[in-house]
Formats: sequence, C-alpha cells, structure tokens
Amino acid sequence: MGMQDAIAILGGTGDQGPGLAQRFARAGREVVIGSRKLDKAERVAAEVKEAVPEGKVTGFENAEAAKRASIVILSVPFEHTASTVKGIKDSLSEGQIVVSMGVPLATAIGDGAVRTMGVWQGSCAELVASLVPAGVEVVSAFQNVSAHRLRDLENPVECDVVVSGPRAAREKVMALCPLVPGLRAVDGGPLSNARIVEEITALLIGLNIRYKLPEGLGLRFTGLPD
Ligand SMILES: NC(=O)c1ccc[n+]([C@@H]2O[C@H](COP(=O)([O-])OP(=O)(O)OC[C@H]3O[C@@H](n4cnc5c(N)ncnc54)[C@H](OP(=O)(O)O)[C@@H]3O)[C@@H](O)[C@H]2O)c1
Repeated sequence: MGMQDAIAILGGTGDQGPGLAQRFARAGREVVIGSRKLDKAERVAAEVKEAVPEGKVTGFENAEAAKRASIVILSVPFEHTASTVKGIKDSLSEGQIVVSMGVPLATAIGDGAVRTMGVWQGSCAELVASLVPAGVEVVSAFQNVSAHRLRDLENPVECDVVVSGPRAAREKVMALCPLVPGLRAVDGGPLSNARIVEEITALLIGLNIRYKLPEGLGLRFTGLPD
C-alpha cells in the first residue's frame, strides 16, 4: 500500500487523534500522526504502534505529515483550526482531501462545551474550506464519535457518521467509516450541512453529562437501507 493511501491526522497527539489512528492502523491503513512538535508526533506514533503492533504508523510535524497522505484529518481544537490550516497550506496539493472533525465549542471563547459559538463561514468545516488551496476538497466527518470509545479497541464504536462535502471526496471519506467496527457512514450531502452535525456534538456532550456517560454515547439513524 503506497503513501497515497495513507491517512494523516494533524494534532493526532490529543484526545481524539490516537483512537482514530489505532482504529485505522488496525484496519491495515498506513497512518501518519502530525504534531507541532516532531518528538511528540514520534512518541504518539510509537504509542499507537504499541496498541497495534502490526500497524504502519509514523510521526511527523504537521506540514510534513500532510504531504504524506491523500486524506488529511484535522484534529485540533476549533480555535487553532485556522492557524493550523494556514501553517500547512503549502504542503497541500490538488486532489488531496482535508477532513474537518472540529466543533466550534464555546470553550473557544471561555464558555462551556455544551454550547457552540457562531462561525462567520457557517461551520468549522466551511472555515477550513475557505482556507485550503484550490483543488483541495474539504469533507466534514467524525465530529460525533467519542474519543473514549475509539480508544477502547476491544469494542465496536456504535455510531453513525454524517459525512458532508463534494460528492467524490465525500464518498472516499465515507469509505473510511467501516474500517472502524461499528461506525456507519451516512451521506450528509453538501458541506453546508456540517453546521448541523457540529452542533450535535455539543448536544451529545450535554447528554453525556446528564446521563453520566463518561465513555460517550453514540448516534444512530433508523430506517436507512442496508
Ligand atoms: N475529544 C473528543 O471526544 C472529540 C470528539 C469529536 C470531535 N472532536 C474534535 O476533534 C478535534 C480534536 O479534539 P481533541 O479532543 O483531540 O483535542 P485536544 O486533545 O485538545 O487537542 C488536539 C491537538 O491539537 C494540538 N494543539 C493544541 N493547541 C494547539 C495550538 N495552539 N495550535 C495548533 N495545534 C494545537 C495539539 O497537538 P500538538 O501539541 O501535538 O501540536 C493537541 O494534541 C477538535 O476539533 C474536537 O472538536 C473531539
């Protein structure tokens, strides 16, 4: 499997990134962990390999990680999204797909995680789309998936993933979902629907608090064809 099939996870050193990395590595996909710091990227890549010894996992600075994959997942807090994308812009090239997983939680402005804040472009994903070079497609996905459950490799992650963005790119990201046992891709249409999906995360965080579910609940749509 060549470099082109690799998946990069920028900011893949945090809460959400390593779980996704473990799951994709376990499914046989090459994973590149990105960080602002090379040694941190290498350390987390080694941790992912410890959990998935058969995995092909490396760590690089974000800009270098972005060059090494056809699909680049942004896994940084919303407030660092624009600076991160600007910092890797020159490393992106036509045909690459950038996946926005971010949620504009109001924590970005010192308020709580059970609310979102307004974003001029409409959503985190549309902000990202406004910043990437021409020919790079932006797809929104994975915002509603629990970090805790991703890391729990013994169990499936029972959750639907609403994937939005330009059709061909969207289909490529939808194809990643079944690599994680339990995840099901739902065709979320155009990128503008990301604003709805991002807001659901704030609702899920509130539900996790009210129902005392630190491991995080999942989302399922009913009535979809197989
Ligand atoms: N945690 C969840 O359960 C969850 C669920 C769904 C979606 N998400 C979304 O996924 C994204 C990542 O979430 P997370 O919980 O993994 O976030 P996080 O742990 O708070 O941060 C992820 C990474 O962002 C990088 N970062 C921190 N400060 C930065 C800065 N000033 N500039 C650039 N990069 C910075 C860090 O990487 P380096 O220090 O290595 O550069 C950090 O490891 C967020 O947008 C979040 O909304 C999270």
